Amino acid sequence: MTRVFSGIKPTGHLTLGNYLGAMRRWAQVDQHQSDALFCVVDLHALTVDHDPARVFRLSRQTATLLLASGLDPELCTVFVQSHVDEHARLSYLLECVATDGEMRRMIQYKEKAPRERERGGSVRLSLLTYPVLMAADILAYGTDEVPVGEDQTQHVELTRDLAVRFNQRYGHTFVVPRATPPKVAARIMNLQDPTSKMGKSDDSGPGIVYLLDEPDVVRKKIMRAVTDSGSDVVYDPEGRPGVANLLEILAACQDVTPQELSGAYDTYGALKKDTAEAVVEVLRPLQERHRALCADPGHVDGVLRTGAERARGMARPRVDAAYRAIGLPPAL
Ligand code: TYM
Repeated sequence: MTRVFSGIKPTGHLTLGNYLGAMRRWAQVDQHQSDALFCVVDLHALTVDHDPARVFRLSRQTATLLLASGLDPELCTVFVQSHVDEHARLSYLLECVATDGEMRRMIQYKEKAPRERERGGSVRLSLLTYPVLMAADILAYGTDEVPVGEDQTQHVELTRDLAVRFNQRYGHTFVVPRATPPKVAARIMNLQDPTSKMGKSDDSGPGIVYLLDEPDVVRKKIMRAVTDSGSDVVYDPEGRPGVANLLEILAACQDVTPQELSGAYDTYGALKKDTAEAVVEVLRPLQERHRALCADPGHVDGVLRTGAERARGMARPRVDAAYRAIGLPPAL
């Protein structure tokens, strides 16, 4: 059976981008068709200036939203990264295989490092080595497929390179995984700035639909989305990024392609109205389940405890094998 692994960082409130680009497929497809693990990657939240209490809170909220999105612990494994030591153990070995040049070429590092310097003057070393920890997340489980949005595909390419290099140097240890970005909604853009990604760590509230936004807030944000100066409702991501983004969102909600919707509307207003209602309907069941899960915190604890145990059992043999292969057999 295909092994699937994916992760989500507790660095902010989850967005419609996270849902349409990744979570929805995890719940609707991956958990049914494969042996899948989904992880709240809390160690990754420490790579930028962070408030410990907030990371703890968001980690919990992220896990709850994963379950609310439809992940079923009977079908897949849901857990928190820091509960399974194998991630950090393997990450160090992979640091001994990766190069600093590779790390500095990562787009996300190039984007985030200057921002961190502006904010606090320094960049945490873990921001540079972040993709190695992500590779460890994936490789520890013998992962075949990594369902992620487009912004993560470079990191998965690096993971493939590290797996191949390790295998060539030290003997076959890792499965070489591949990224499986969605056909629609691989990169949902900010509603107020459709040339940049809708990201949970950004501050621009009006341009971001959060999964827990009230229906009226969702409607307001989508009705106020920046469109373009033209008036034809056509799918042209280069020339009309604002309209293309709305078509992409609506298409994802309706399980069609944005090309199919191109030309189906006479006005931007009608497109916005349908998009807003479609998003409200997609979020409604998720928000209802979230409310129920918040009322039963013991259930979420139980899921995460069982998930971590299962994940440990899956990761340990391969990580131990990697230690032996690289020259670190266990003490006698
Ligand atoms: P993160 O937490 O930024 O995002 C989680 C998932 O949501 C997708 N995504 C989007 N998709 C479409 N449009 C958007 N605007 C959008 N914003 C986010 C992301 O592509 C991702 O699939 N480094 C990863 C977390 C990670 C991971 C892993 C993922 C750590 N280890 C191992 C897979 C496998 C990240 O920061 O995702």
